[in-house]
Amino acid sequence: MRKYIIILCVNMFFVLANAQSDSIIQVQTLKSEIVFALKPDSKIYQIHFGEKLTRSSEYVKIKSTQDIYVGAGTSNLFESAIQTTHNDGNPSLDLHFAGKEVKTLNDNVTETVIKLTDDKYPFEVILHYKAYYQEDVIEQWSEIVHREKKPLTLKNYASSMLFFDADKYFLTHFYGDWAKDMRVAEEQLQSGIKVIDSKLGTRANVYHSPFFILSLNKLAEENTGEVIAGTLAWTGNFKFTFEVDNQNALRLISGINPYASEYQLQPNQVFKTPSFIFAYSKSGKEVVSQNLHRWVRRYSLLDGDKPRMTLLNNWEATAFDFNEDKLKGLIGDASKLGVDMFLLDDGWFANKYPRNNDKTSLGDWDVNKTKLPNGIGVLVKEATKQGVKFGIWIEPEMVNPKSELYEKHPDWIIRLPNREEHYMRNQLVLDLPNPKVQDFVFDVLDKLMIDNPEIAYMKWDCNRPMTSSYSPYLKDKQSQLYVDYVLAFYKILDRVRAKYPHLPIMLCSGGGGRIDYGALKYFNEYWPTDNTDGYERVFIQWNYSYYMPAIATCNHVTSWGKQSLKFRTDVAMMGKLGYDIMVSHFSDKELKFSQDAVKNYNRISKLVWYGDLYRLVSPYDGERAVLMYSDDAKTKAILFSYTLNTLFKEIHQKVKLRGLNPVKNYTVREINLFPDTKSKFAEDGQTFSGDYLMKIGLSVSPNSPLTSNVYEITAEN
Ligand code: GLA
Repeated sequence: MRKYIIILCVNMFFVLANAQSDSIIQVQTLKSEIVFALKPDSKIYQIHFGEKLTRSSEYVKIKSTQDIYVGAGTSNLFESAIQTTHNDGNPSLDLHFAGKEVKTLNDNVTETVIKLTDDKYPFEVILHYKAYYQEDVIEQWSEIVHREKKPLTLKNYASSMLFFDADKYFLTHFYGDWAKDMRVAEEQLQSGIKVIDSKLGTRANVYHSPFFILSLNKLAEENTGEVIAGTLAWTGNFKFTFEVDNQNALRLISGINPYASEYQLQPNQVFKTPSFIFAYSKSGKEVVSQNLHRWVRRYSLLDGDKPRMTLLNNWEATAFDFNEDKLKGLIGDASKLGVDMFLLDDGWFANKYPRNNDKTSLGDWDVNKTKLPNGIGVLVKEATKQGVKFGIWIEPEMVNPKSELYEKHPDWIIRLPNREEHYMRNQLVLDLPNPKVQDFVFDVLDKLMIDNPEIAYMKWDCNRPMTSSYSPYLKDKQSQLYVDYVLAFYKILDRVRAKYPHLPIMLCSGGGGRIDYGALKYFNEYWPTDNTDGYERVFIQWNYSYYMPAIATCNHVTSWGKQSLKFRTDVAMMGKLGYDIMVSHFSDKELKFSQDAVKNYNRISKLVWYGDLYRLVSPYDGERAVLMYSDDAKTKAILFSYTLNTLFKEIHQKVKLRGLNPVKNYTVREINLFPDTKSKFAEDGQTFSGDYLMKIGLSVSPNSPLTSNVYEITAEN
């Protein structure tokens, strides 16, 4: 009898759940949820985004609603998600619910698909919400298709539209310029529209970054405040529109920047927008960025779970001025230093116009016979002999007017037919939508690999944005150039990855131009900025760390900056360590310090790459920065402290650690000391409980300006 009742209850629940699921759609992660409701007008509305309700049956009580994906041209008086004009000249879209599907992709990922159709025209938008349960991350994109007789022109085509209902809204966003990457701005959003966008064509980042943090009600801190972190996975023009309306509700529209980008859609052709990736937390920025790091490593970054190589690069050390002997010497230095690889940068190619400065040669990818009479192969052999791997720089999407490529294929270049060419770094962008250009770009990498299969790494650069944007190939479809360029870039990289699935490639773009989640699936790491000044890097890396996991962030020790070699090295260790410096100019002590630092890094790198990041003290709050990484099991942590400009300005208090197990005992030891210096850390070598370290803390930052300390924190067995 009892058994029977249980079965009955289960059945009743199933029926109820079914009835409810007809009107309520929940996209859930571990701690957050976005909820939609189907209303009697057959429209679907967002009724909630944030913390989950314990009783989901109560969602039906929520009255405030916002249309899930607003079309332009009917009753809407604010920004719309999508806009087009139909074949009959009617400029309106009114999208109604037409079905949903929930797919369980695996035990962590669920995809909810919501279909919307216009009731007067054969026009559909299919919204996709992929929920990554453990990481608390949601990925959203849309697919747009129509079956009208003639093509339609899409004017707006957002990836996502979200609504928030709070008293106050604060926006944290990032901006910059060459070598001034990733500065931070924070502001309250008031009535009206705030736009963060870019129009750079070949890249997303630099002037404005495609990353933001939205705080509700109060400006979020590391461990408090309701936050939404968002970004667009697109290596081109993006736009985030934040509109606070007459009811103080916030509408957030994210997608490709519609600027100069009307897109012609043929009947039955599906336009898939890039993904908008977002994560919610009710307890501040720390957890949101830890979740994004996990998500990037697991679902976005190429080989996010595989080790990276330390390296010595020659760009800052030699620029274009090298020959075979000099490079062999540098390969020897890489080996002496103990890094895994030597990376040959710009300047190794072209003969008619040799690449001896940045004014010529891009496009002519044959090895320069004067500098390297025996080709690349001899360098690869030398590297193998010296026990290091060999990597090489390319910038295949570009051309200098002084090059054979420019002379042979003037029709492969993006430039206006009737105006003067506009150069940046003396170069122009190739017309990637042209399939012949795509073959050419692919072949630059492919040929290098065919000729030198032992090449173990590439640095793929892109040193200018797009201007005077006109594609000879696209002819009367010029407004598709910005979108088609990025699609062509991805197409080339798909070919690269089909043939070389695991070749490590660094994503570089005149410093940090190309940093976005869309490119990450093709690249193993990125170059955050050409600015390698140790002091400035503390801030730049701090800001990237909200979005980018340390495993992907290349940090090189160079001669920029007046800080000690130790300071610059400690800063570079908070990511993927590299060197770009004349090792032969090191004193004996500097060399010994650096060799030991590489060994220390090899020991601790797994913590930095795969651990959770805790930003303990912000450089924006005072004269120091303190960060730590700890592993999942909380058995190991590494803490970095940087004292900035402060002689006697500030007394540094103890820092309370986070991310430890309160009942475990940890020994704390300062590492990475310069030869013949002793640790001044009073608690060096002592053991503390995690409880003590998190409630009382440690005096990790001495008061001397521009000094740094690294502490290894190890749990007793
Ligand atoms: C860009 C990169 C640098 C270097 C140069 C070479 O500026 O960011 O690291 O590779 O190009 O020209």
